[in-house]
Amino acid sequence: MNILVINGPNLNMLGIREPDVYGRTTYEELEAFVKAALTEAGAQGEVWQSNYEGAIVDKIQAAYGNYDGIVINPAAYTHTSVAILDALKAVGIPTVEVHLSDVDAREEFRRHSFVSLAAEKTIKGKGFEGYREAILYLAELAEKNKK
Ligand code: DQA
Repeated sequence: MNILVINGPNLNMLGIREPDVYGRTTYEELEAFVKAALTEAGAQGEVWQSNYEGAIVDKIQAAYGNYDGIVINPAAYTHTSVAILDALKAVGIPTVEVHLSDVDAREEFRRHSFVSLAAEKTIKGKGFEGYREAILYLAELAEKNKK
């Protein structure tokens, strides 16, 4: 099982950006947490971040045939990007959408997600733990599909 974990714009600023919303833990700590969750799930994978919409589209396209699952926190592109939605639909890889914060409890514009239309599941407001849940969900799904 090979899982690609994609983080969108400004997530590299974790620990510095809006600590009242995102906490004080850093992006490096998130990476370490996600890698530990991959190991726990018996999965392999990559944790990757970009601030660029096109780079995220390229990364999703390159996942075709190479990954069994995608965990994505598209960050601000969640609410704007038809291109990321279309890329996820194009590759058809089971995807879980994750948000650190509870986007439904924030500004109105954060309530709509294009990416949700291609995701099996969306996890919001659980902090780092949301990534772990997403990885375990994808690992279980892959196990079920094997049978
Ligand atoms: C976010 C929520 C988005 O609305 C925001 O633009 C982000 C992070 C989250 O993880 O809570 O950058 O995806």
